[in-house]
Amino acid sequence: MTQTIVVASGKGGTGKTSITAGVGCALAELGRRCLLIDADVGMQSLDMALGVHNYAAFDFSDAARGNIALADAAVPLADFPQASVLAAPPDLEEVGTNALRTITHNIREMDLYDFVLIDAPAGLGEVFRMAACAADAGVIVATADPICLRGAERTAQELMSCGVANLRLVVNRVRPGLMDRGLPNIDDAIDSSGVQLLGYVPEDESVIVSAAYGVPSLLTPRSRAARAYRNIAKRLVGEQAPVLKLGRR
Ligand SMILES: Nc1ncnc2c1ncn2[C@@H]1O[C@H](COP(=O)(O)OP(=O)(O)O)[C@@H](O)[C@H]1O
Ligand SMILES: [Mg+2]
Repeated sequence: MTQTIVVASGKGGTGKTSITAGVGCALAELGRRCLLIDADVGMQSLDMALGVHNYAAFDFSDAARGNIALADAAVPLADFPQASVLAAPPDLEEVGTNALRTITHNIREMDLYDFVLIDAPAGLGEVFRMAACAADAGVIVATADPICLRGAERTAQELMSCGVANLRLVVNRVRPGLMDRGLPNIDDAIDSSGVQLLGYVPEDESVIVSAAYGVPSLLTPRSRAARAYRNIAKRLVGEQAPVLKLGRR
């Protein structure tokens, strides 16, 4: 059965796109058929982060309108062929806000993928709701700072109001040094968002470099973020994964 997960956060820049990309590649590595949908309409970041923007001739609006088969609109990743990226359109004018729901409904009916990860836009507006309404579970991404955590709590409420009840939290860019200085830690993040933890991703410069070059993070040797993405993917498929020790290599 297809699991459709929206990756969301109130704030921009928390790591939604990096986590969608990293966890998507890790799911593919585990042998799962995975579609990564960029719902950041107008921004189109996921295809760039994974280096396939020059191959993405179609986007999800084409697939929703039936102009092209979904499998032909989605671009497979060369290094993780079980994962494909479906790009975002520049706007929703011609397709409307039911587009993603139509696509995920068809995927479930035809059992086309094991996982669909939807990379939601920042904010809690119309496009966010379109992404939420297409999903049956949510991953809320937050960094451990008070402003972002308030956004995570609001995001959880909005997702639940869209009928997405199965919510998990990923705390991103964790820096043990900041926690020592009294900033929120992972437990605080769980408490203030009210959402169960799926995992955390450490601060890791290789994430920034990978995205800039359009190379999947999982290809960076010894990347701590990549290890965290792999652990999150394992938990999503129901396998046990160790909790990474903070601050250790
Ligand atoms: N774990 C991390 N360590 C270091 N930098 C990160 C990490 N996660 C994301 N980033 C960087 O933060 C910025 C925003 O991440 P991005 O995934 O685009 O966020 P969003 O999609 O939520 O806007 C990017 O420059 C990205 O490379
Ligand atoms: Mg993004």
